Amino acid sequence: MRIVLGVSGGIAAYKAVEVCRRLVDAGHEVTAVLTDAARRFVGEATFSALATHPVPEGLWQRWEGGIAHTRLGQRADLVVVAPATADLLARYAAGMADDLLSATLLATRAPVVVCPAMHTEMWEHPAVAENLATLCRRGVHVVPPGSGRLAGGDEGVGRMAEPATIVAAALALSARHGDLGGTQVVVSAGGTREAIDPVRVITNRSSGKQGHAIAEAAAARGARVTLVTSSALEPPAGVEVVHVESAADMHAAIAAAAPSADVVVMAAAVADWRPKAPAAQKTHGLPELVLEPTPDILADLASARRPGQVLVGFAAETEDVVARARRKLERKGVDLVVVNDVSAPGAGFDHDTNEVTILGADGYVAAVPLTSKRQVADAILDQVVARLRRGTTGSNDSKRDTKEG
Ligand code: CTP
Repeated sequence: MRIVLGVSGGIAAYKAVEVCRRLVDAGHEVTAVLTDAARRFVGEATFSALATHPVPEGLWQRWEGGIAHTRLGQRADLVVVAPATADLLARYAAGMADDLLSATLLATRAPVVVCPAMHTEMWEHPAVAENLATLCRRGVHVVPPGSGRLAGGDEGVGRMAEPATIVAAALALSARHGDLGGTQVVVSAGGTREAIDPVRVITNRSSGKQGHAIAEAAAARGARVTLVTSSALEPPAGVEVVHVESAADMHAAIAAAAPSADVVVMAAAVADWRPKAPAAQKTHGLPELVLEPTPDILADLASARRPGQVLVGFAAETEDVVARARRKLERKGVDLVVVNDVSAPGAGFDHDTNEVTILGADGYVAAVPLTSKRQVADAILDQVVARLRRGTTGSNDSKRDTKEG
């Protein structure tokens, strides 16, 4: 694989040397692209000696018969930026192209991994957070920094991830690139709102973040994605969005999209019941609510599924998490159930992180420890891809690949 290793100007540039060496050792063809500031931290000769190719001088150099800033990006299978400084992230998010690294980032269609490294105050600044959010929305993958010693003797969050972590994340990302190409994926997200009257609703705590992350990850992996969402979050780029409010709206939107879908992921927290007769006018005084069950969208999907279609359900539990999820998997007749213990710290509703267990109808069980919702999304989609490839959905008799963890 052809990899461009971008190095921007932070003290963690010395750790990029190790990233370079590990990528070359893993059999990849690596070209290091250094910003001017990076050259102040680590000599060009170090990267030229370790990488497959010498370090290109800059924007104006010819490269493999073409101009460096487009050729490098066009030919790359993967771009890794380690370290990615606050300045580099800002220039990348703004679409600037005033040096070889930023121009390469714009010219490439390969997956891009950025590994931020900066002081804690900078890492926590809203400008950095917004730039990263923009990049994530565009499909850029982030290996977040850890905590530890920083330049100038400071300590805190902002220290670049370790080279082994970066290399593992980058190679996993590239293995996933395009693996959902040619597929149609439908994802539902958010909590539905069931009208009591024109003013009031019954709803739940779901933010839609996990469902949106799944839609984003599926699109990044090459799928055509329809996101049916009741969430007010800005949807990821490049997906078709259908906004809905109630379980009935969601039912109709999913019923329209599902027949042509290869994969349906029901990440939405659909209300299980709704007011039987919502008032046409605002009610005054204490209403007497009579509830009725909503249609079970997932169960309908399972009974109408076509051969080869992969169905994924979600479960939010607070106790007896895995056993309840296993029963739900069987009851709903789906291929995978993703269960989160919404009482666990940092997991479930409205967090940016999640911790889940994925269960398969074929006996597969894997725990995904606390991580970003995007990484949880990729772990779920890895299982979806495995089932699409095996073509053994909708049955319990497929080969077991149980992984306890
Ligand atoms: N779901 C659905 N239609 C509904 C309710 C839920 O499609 N009317 C889907 C959700 O999107 C989720 C899964 O079913 O993928 C959750 O199952 P559900 O039985 O609703 O879970 P709980 O509400 O936790 O069920 P229970 O109260 O029985 O545990």
